[in-house]
Amino acid sequence: MNSQQNSPLTPGRYFFALSPDTSSRMQIQHIMKRLPDDPSLKLQNTANLHQTLLFLGQLDQQQLNALLKQTDSIRFPAIDMQFDHLSYWDGPKIFCLTSRAPSAELYSLVNQLEHIASQADIKVDEKPYLPHITLARKASESLDVPIAPVHFKVEQLVLMKSVSTDHGPQYQPVMHWPVTTD
Ligand code: 2AM
Repeated sequence: MNSQQNSPLTPGRYFFALSPDTSSRMQIQHIMKRLPDDPSLKLQNTANLHQTLLFLGQLDQQQLNALLKQTDSIRFPAIDMQFDHLSYWDGPKIFCLTSRAPSAELYSLVNQLEHIASQADIKVDEKPYLPHITLARKASESLDVPIAPVHFKVEQLVLMKSVSTDHGPQYQPVMHWPVTTD
């Protein structure tokens, strides 16, 4: 598949994700203003907003090279999603957007990614995939805030690198794969 690489793949923490388009990003920013006014809440930086599909963890050069060889086989159609609920998850203590009816195509893309990761000898989390977009961390209470559904149109898959900075983690898109049309 036609991929586009922004920077060399060097060892580090990686994950596959979907980034919101500009219109969904603006809707999400609007929703974030309605989160509780809690000073301990750590709001997600708008540039970092994303939907993780598969967290790969720390990868060495050999794993990255092996992963790259597998990614040519990735195929996925344009996927339409609606994030229609503002949720509190008390395990990771986050506020996140979730979907009451996630599309089957999304799960099929995640299955493909799990498969290529295992082919590249990368051990991934065994927990079932739960589509969500994290809005804030260090949340401590549940909330009941109705929201207008955020329409999220998947146009590209992104391989992100998580880089630690003085201001917390920064997520850098290093490779993109567009939707397949064939
Ligand atoms: P999140 O999807 O709940 O926000 C980069 O760290 C991204 O990968 C974050 O979006 C993070 O959580 C997600 N992620 C999933 N599993 C992770 C893990 N075991 N460690 C760190 N981040 C993880």
